[in-house]
Parts: sequence; C-alpha cells; structure tokens
Amino acid sequence: MKTEPRALARPPGPQLGFLRGFRTFRRDALGFLLHTARTYGDVAWFRVGPFDIYLLSHPDHVRDVLVAGHHAVTKSRVLQEARRILGDGLLTSEGNTHKRNRRLLQPVFHHQRIVEYGEVMAVYAARASERWRDGQELDLHEELMALTLAIVGKTLFGTDVEEADAQRVAGSLRTMFDMYDRFFMPFAEHLERLPLPANRRFWQAKASLDEVIFGLIRDRRADGDRGDLLSMLLAARDDGGGQETNGGMSDRQIRDEATTIFLAGHETTSIALTWTFYLLSQSREVEERLHRELDEVLDDRIPRPSDLPRLEFTRRVFSESLRLYPPAWTMGRSVAADLPLGGYVIPAGATALLSQYVIHHDPRWYPDPWRFDPDRWEPAAVAARPKYSFFPFGAGPRMCIGEDFAWMEGMLVLATIAREWQFGLLPGQVIDLQPRITLRPKYGMRMRLERR
Ligand code: HEM
Repeated sequence: MKTEPRALARPPGPQLGFLRGFRTFRRDALGFLLHTARTYGDVAWFRVGPFDIYLLSHPDHVRDVLVAGHHAVTKSRVLQEARRILGDGLLTSEGNTHKRNRRLLQPVFHHQRIVEYGEVMAVYAARASERWRDGQELDLHEELMALTLAIVGKTLFGTDVEEADAQRVAGSLRTMFDMYDRFFMPFAEHLERLPLPANRRFWQAKASLDEVIFGLIRDRRADGDRGDLLSMLLAARDDGGGQETNGGMSDRQIRDEATTIFLAGHETTSIALTWTFYLLSQSREVEERLHRELDEVLDDRIPRPSDLPRLEFTRRVFSESLRLYPPAWTMGRSVAADLPLGGYVIPAGATALLSQYVIHHDPRWYPDPWRFDPDRWEPAAVAARPKYSFFPFGAGPRMCIGEDFAWMEGMLVLATIAREWQFGLLPGQVIDLQPRITLRPKYGMRMRLERR
C-alpha cells in the first residue's frame, strides 16, 4: 500500500510566540534544542520570529540535507549575515563563486602540505608551553587562542603574526561576534546603520581586522611567492570573469578568503583543545591513560606528524571532546525547493537546522551520552553507529576544508602540551557554554598548571 507523505501536516513542536522564540534562543539555545528533539522527535517544527525552523535530529537527515539534498539548500540566513564579517569567503559564498574558490583553495590543504604544517604546529605548541611555569594560573582558553592564531598565521600565511597583531585580530573578531546576536533580529541591516555605540565598536573592530589582513597581503605582494596560502591566492587565475582584476583575485577577495581561514582556522581548534583539557582535568583516569601513551610513543621528545598513527588513544580523546563539545554546534540551511524528509515536506523558504550538539548527545548512538568515554571510539563501536551520528566538520560539498589540518593541529598540540603539563580548574571557575557561531566556554577556562 502506498503511504502518502504527510506533506501538509506540520511536524510537532513547541509553540513559541513571535518574540518568545528569540528570547528562548538567546537564553538557552542548547537546552531548547535538546528538549525539542527529545520531546517532539527527529523532525520537529517551531517558529522563531518570522522564521519557520525544522529541527532534524536523525543522522540520516544530515545525509539527506547536506549530502543528497545539497542542491536544494543554501547557507542559512544567520550564516549569510556573517558576510558582514567574512565577506564572500569560502564559508559564506554560494554557487559558482564557492565552487571556484573551493577548487582554488584545495591545494593548500593537500595532505603533504598539512604534514609540513604539522612540524610547525608542534614547535609552536612547545614554544608556548616553555613560557609556562609550574603552579602558574592562566586562562587556558586565551592561551590556546593565541597559540592557534600564531599557528594559522605561520602555516597559512608564512609569516610570524606578531603577538600584538594576534591579540588585535582575536580582539576584533571577538567584538564582532559578540555583536553577532543582533543578526538574529529582523531588519538588522537597517539597525546597523544607526550611530549606536555597539555599531561603532563593530565597525572599528572590522577596520582593525582589515588593517592587519591587508597588511599581510601587502607584505606578501612585496615578498613574492613563498608557496603559502597568500602566495597561492595572489597567483590564482580564473576564467570566471566577475570581480577579478586581470584574471586574478582582487585584494578584497583575497581579504575575504584570508579572514575566513584566519577565523575558521583558529577559533574552532582552540575551542576544541580548551574543552579537551577541561575534560582531562575532570577525569584523572583518562588523563593517566593518555600520559602512558604519550610516554611510550614519544619517549620525551616533541611529537611529529609521523607519530600520529601510533597516538591512537590521543585520537580517541580528541574525538570524544569533539563529540561532547562540538565547536560547530549547529548548522542551518535555507531550503530553496521543497524537501521531502522523514515523512514530511520541508517547504521552500523554511530553515533546516541540524545540531551536532543534539545528535552527538543522543543516547540511541551514545549510551550515557554526557559521560566522557574515549573508548566509544574503538573501531567496532564506531562501525556500529550510523555514519552521520558524528559530524563535527559538517558533511557533503560544504564540509570543512580544514578537517585534516584540524586533526593534525588538535592531536599535535594536545600531545605536546599534555606530555608536560596537567591542568586543574581554579576554585570558583564556573563552566558554562556560550553557543554563538562556535561553542565557547562562557567564562573562559582559568586553570592552574602543574608540571608532570
Ligand atoms: C576543530 C576544528 C574545526 C571544526 C569543528 C570545524 C567545523 C566546520 C564545519 C562544521 C564546517 C561546515 C559549515 C557549514 O557547512 O555550514 C566548516 C567549514 C569550513 N572550515 Fe572548518 N572546522 C574546524 C577547523 C578548521 C580549520 C583548521 C580550517 C582552516 C585552516 C577550517 C576552515 C573551514 C572553511 C574554509 C570552511 C568552509 C568550507 C566550504 O564551505 O567549502 N576549519 N568547518
């Protein structure tokens, strides 16, 4: 018997008033999404302001939307708004611009290049940890942000980003993302023209960020080809027409790609590492197993990319951290053409929301889902789970282009630091999540260092 899709029926979901939707999201987006998925099932519908949102919480839906259905969707409005910060870089562009730029950038992320970058990652991590002192108290989140920023500066832009510049870039990006909340508001594009102090801070931060990045572009034009990302972008030629100058990319386009990689390439990885060290501080047993592996494999030297295949437990620790605290905690897509899914039809114009945070904490795939248990990553356990029950890097043609880079960096920095240091949370440090574009620790991560 043929079963008709419930095309006209809306999936179940919470009823939020026009304004309550915004407030709920602002106050506790994670709790709300988890509750909605657990209460209403794998396809749930709700409304935030004027937006129809379909929360999809089965791993197969990740495939249906991001892989099989990618032609029917575009980046969500929230991410499109990120254009104000990132311009038309890889993360925010669409269609042919995206396709062309992805092709252009692909060689930068080749395996052999990532291995070369790996040497730099471990050296930089060792250098950062040499500055630390036994018993020192520090904000590990800040430290790791500075470290991953220096690494992305060196590996991709072939230059030592000065400490002051690194702080400036990080500060500017933070200011801008702190204001990102406004972009959930209708008419945000009109609000941003008003002479409000918050708007002034936003534009000042943007100008400061651009100054650093345009400065790097200037330096590279003067230096000539060094085989790094900027050199490649400067040399890139395309038949595509459009905004290119003399067949090449304009400084503006290069700025957009560089800013995107600068941001995507350090914020996410530093957050993943921060949560990893937090989890280790809460589980001495896991930490001991990690130390045993590092001592055995590394024998008191800093790790190299060629060590990674033997750092199996290190990989499991990092995977489990990405599961529990996925730096990209949710992904939205605007549906461009009706999309049949899970017995319903998601209408054109609606938003499909896939949340790593929700799916990664689903007890169907991860029993006792809040427990930090790296053994979930034994090959047999992984094979028993649906493919997209773990998707910290997204899926399909818009999947993270920096995934290999992130694994290399995450594991090498983790191994380099953990072989020498243990961290303990400072008394009074409150742990809370701040779900913005990434899943930050809301109050930083104040830790006390202990040399092993
Ligand atoms: C733990 C670290 C990281 C996580 C969790 C992460 C996560 C993601 C996710 C989920 C997406 C897909 C977004 C979407 O489809 O809406 C993405 C895209 C992207 N990521 Fe990452 N990322 C990480 C590290 C990196 C690094 C190290 C780089 C560069 C050095 C990078 C560069 C990018 C870029 C350029 C895109 C856009 C790709 C495209 O649309 O073609 N990411 N990332």
